[in-house]
Amino acid sequence: MKRLLGRLAGQKVLIIGDLMLDHYLLGTVERISPEAPVPVVRVEKETHVLGGAGNVARNIAELGGKPVLAGMRGKDIHGQRLKDHCSSAGLATRVLASESRPTTVKTRVMAANQQIVRVDHEDLGQPSDAELDELFELIAEDLESAPVVILSDYGKGLICRPFMDRLWTALQSLKSRPYVLVDPKTVNYDLYTGVDLLTPNTKEAGEGAGMAVNSMESAVLAGQKLFDRLECKHLLVTLGRDGMALFHDRETVSHIPTFARKVFDVTGAGDTVIGTLALGLAAGGSLVDSATLANHAAGIVVGQIGAATASPGQVVDSIDELPEVEVRSLL
Ligand SMILES: Nc1ncnc2c1ncn2[C@@H]1O[C@H](COP(=O)(O)OP(=O)(O)OP(=O)(O)O)[C@@H](O)[C@H]1O
Ligand SMILES: [Mg+2]
Repeated sequence: MKRLLGRLAGQKVLIIGDLMLDHYLLGTVERISPEAPVPVVRVEKETHVLGGAGNVARNIAELGGKPVLAGMRGKDIHGQRLKDHCSSAGLATRVLASESRPTTVKTRVMAANQQIVRVDHEDLGQPSDAELDELFELIAEDLESAPVVILSDYGKGLICRPFMDRLWTALQSLKSRPYVLVDPKTVNYDLYTGVDLLTPNTKEAGEGAGMAVNSMESAVLAGQKLFDRLECKHLLVTLGRDGMALFHDRETVSHIPTFARKVFDVTGAGDTVIGTLALGLAAGGSLVDSATLANHAAGIVVGQIGAATASPGQVVDSIDELPEVEVRSLL
């Protein structure tokens, strides 16, 4: 595990997906508005964080990898901010600035550690053909040189049928094609036929399979239905506190458990999983080793307030502290 961790540095991963800016307004409430029965928040602090595909890229950068982040933003103040955050995080970017759509922004107004309201700016429409052409020109070389590609689909419009058609066309012309991983969005399952690996959580796996997932047995059954539906090569169903079910193929499933730990903030764990897994595979790690490493990294992220990434030092500590994972077959 540590040897694989040591090999992550400098490995390239291309992340294509929905770029987002998480915007936080933090303040206090002292009164109800005279205009409507709503609290008045006096803002004391304002922060911006990269979300969506950008968070996947940050996870890869934190582990020493070389993420290349591709997607779209608007030509607006938030788009400029998103660009600035990418450069201060040291991310290489292939970002198209759209004339017609806004940057996806989620503004959360918080007071007394509680969310008062969330305000979304987004346009869920598909990009135009011209925009997609331009994006694929931007990433043409990366598709050739990156051993692993992540599609980080948050259902904000970029990953659509015309996008996938262009992707397969571009990959078909390559001598060796990169391994394609997808963090799926339920409404888009039909787009993922033929990808190498998906990383749904239990809810997404159940929705994709058209069944309820509420036990290990049902998770395995749902996984098999996803194989039948998508003809993927591998599958990793994340099971929250129960860890992961790794499908080497439709009939070979391993369970990678987590260890009891305090959980503070589960948001972003999925981004950590797919980022770490992709980086492990790019470094030549096996599926099971890369997924186990991802399990360690995600465990660190959920155990910290606000932190959305894990560093190599933290992963080493986690490997040292926790008992060695016993990967058990589920079938
Ligand atoms: N309570 C927990 N204890 C330990 N590890 C956890 C816990 N919850 C999540 N994890 C780790 O995070 C991984 C991903 O969690 P989960 O299945 O909740 O993903 P997700 O729903 O996609 O997350 P996200 O909120 O980012 O969308 C798990 O496979 C596990 O490694
Ligand atoms: Mg997720």
